[in-house]
Amino acid sequence: MAVDLLLGLQWGDEGKGKIVDVLTKDYNIIARFQGGPNAGHTLEFDGHKHVLHTIPSGIFHDNAINLVGNGVVIDPVIFKKELDNLKKFDLDIQKKLLISRKAHLILPTHRLLDAASEASKGKAKIGSTLKGIGPTYMDKTGRNGIRVGDLELTDWKDRYASLRDKHISMIDFYDAKIDYNLDELETEFFAAVKVLKTLTFIDSEEYLYQAQKAEKTILAEGAQGSLLDIDFGTYPFVTSSTTTAAGACTGLGVAPTDINEVFGIFKAYTTRVGSGPFPTELFDEDGATMGRVGNEFGATTGRPRRCGWLDLVALKYAVRVNGVTQLMMMKGDVLSGFKTLKVCTAYIYQGKEIDHLPYNIEPENIEPIYTEMKGWAADLTGMTEASQLPENLNTYIEFLEKELEVPIKIVSVGPDRTQTIKR
Ligand code: GDP
Ligand code: IMO
Ligand code: MG
Repeated sequence: MAVDLLLGLQWGDEGKGKIVDVLTKDYNIIARFQGGPNAGHTLEFDGHKHVLHTIPSGIFHDNAINLVGNGVVIDPVIFKKELDNLKKFDLDIQKKLLISRKAHLILPTHRLLDAASEASKGKAKIGSTLKGIGPTYMDKTGRNGIRVGDLELTDWKDRYASLRDKHISMIDFYDAKIDYNLDELETEFFAAVKVLKTLTFIDSEEYLYQAQKAEKTILAEGAQGSLLDIDFGTYPFVTSSTTTAAGACTGLGVAPTDINEVFGIFKAYTTRVGSGPFPTELFDEDGATMGRVGNEFGATTGRPRRCGWLDLVALKYAVRVNGVTQLMMMKGDVLSGFKTLKVCTAYIYQGKEIDHLPYNIEPENIEPIYTEMKGWAADLTGMTEASQLPENLNTYIEFLEKELEVPIKIVSVGPDRTQTIKR
């Protein structure tokens, strides 16, 4: 049985958590393949809102095993908090939640290094979530990292101490003053590691291989978005993992030939949190309306998200890099009430009109060209059938399908599980 893949096509926060939760009833296994607690995936059902950071978004369903893959980086402290939040749901966590032995651990000093690096950059800072993501992936590729499987070794604390000492000398190297109390951080960390060790650690690539042989259905859950990819994103204002489709292969040990559907998820407009170029960003009342109606605040950091019109140049690029087979459009309801909508279909770049994403999309190099479309007034949030969608929204959707050459199969009209329309 093949593996389906769901990933964000913009700068993250497209609504991946919501859709994974909606799709979980059709899958036996939900597997996160990259990122870590920089992610904030929101699910809403039965009048409650849940935010998950490291735990896959299928955790609330009885039918599914949730796997944290080798490509993920885990902060035991945040992981423990997530588990604490789940306690009231009476879930069989030992059975339902499996952790890859090859996943790397975020140490307290990784977080400090993230803070020191950002502070030393001044205005050029990435706008990191400060969860230690960059430094942990640096230790992974530098072959210094500590993995979940190491916690089963007798000498893991020695390995920890030697990496911590190295980090401390690196923090001193940065030209930035970081206040911290290592004793407190370590007490919290070791208590959380103890909790992590009560969970089930597995050789996840073997587990997934056997699951496929046994015809189990598997959905790989991405974090962040394609424009934050370490290679294909707006570097250096990106995260440190492969957020695109290839990341599911390296982050789970799944062969490329085993990937079946690639679900690409995008907002009907665009948002970005943190620094970096954003060609269609709005600084006017329209942008403020999107932020207010869409409640655009980071699920992990609470920072306001920057808002702007849909950028088809960037979206086309993401569709191609990932080989998207089906699209899902989120937050169409937020655009209700706009008289006119704009969609960016090309850029003026170095005096010429282009329709692909060039190397450099800094504002001084790019002028977006917009197509204007008629808005719709109807409130979409109570709609349940495609036949109820207003005509101008259908025109908007059909225009996007034509430009992107991929069908839009799901239209989301609100944060709740039930506010999901299939086309
Ligand atoms: P993720 O990181 O991709 O899982 O997305 P986030 O959870 O960070 O951000 C998406 C936000 O939009 C969350 O607050 C969701 O509850 C909310 N959301 C998801 N889909 C919709 C939708 O169709 N309409 C509205 N209004 N909100 C939505
Ligand atoms: P989900 O999975 C939106 C952004 C940060 C920053 C940059 C680097 O919820 O969509 P990092 O902490 O990774 O070093 O930050 O990436 N970023 C996200 N933006 N959604 C996310 O995840 C993000 N994860 C990281 O704001 O600009
Ligand atoms: Mg998010």
